[in-house]
Amino acid sequence: MATVAITLPPLPWAENGLDPVISANTISFHYGKHHKTYVDNINKLIAGTEFAELPLEKIITASAGKADKAGIFNNAAQTWNHTFYWKSLRPQGGGEPPAALKQKIEASFGSVDDLKKELSAAAVSQFGSGWAWLVADGDKLKIVKTGNAETPLTQGVKPLLTVDVWEHAYYLDYQNKRADHVNAVLDKLINWEFAAENLG
Ligand SMILES: [Fe+2]
Repeated sequence: MATVAITLPPLPWAENGLDPVISANTISFHYGKHHKTYVDNINKLIAGTEFAELPLEKIITASAGKADKAGIFNNAAQTWNHTFYWKSLRPQGGGEPPAALKQKIEASFGSVDDLKKELSAAAVSQFGSGWAWLVADGDKLKIVKTGNAETPLTQGVKPLLTVDVWEHAYYLDYQNKRADHVNAVLDKLINWEFAAENLG
């Protein structure tokens, strides 16, 4: 049977589209090197295995928590997480979420500002590499953080948007100032429309 290769999807905006909050230089390394390497690695790792025919989400859930499949999990999850991350950002993002999402946010967090504070605190306090996420858990919206390649896809909740807090996401532009990066992303780039679409 022919193996369907996992591909590196195109960015949803130009490489300099998030400038100056995230520079074209950062995006060229983050997408062109880091994300591409995860995609190249997962294709090599699954070739000729029982994972070769599976869609990416299935590879992630089937390898999660299995010590002997850690390489497959890490590269599959990082491939998925990054594709989801690019869509979580957009030029001229931030601002007010669409009405239906805003209502849900207010019911779960009090206000959009309260949600941003909680998401920022999760992103800043994630020790080492990882991700901060807005997720839907049934009717309720929640903030979760995950370490390294871990993803809420394996936790029975629906991811709505994410912020990458690996150093490669911000170090060229912000050096060690993760909080400055995260707050600028939440104010100026976060894609509420994408989160609203995921909420369904
Ligand atoms: Fe990343």
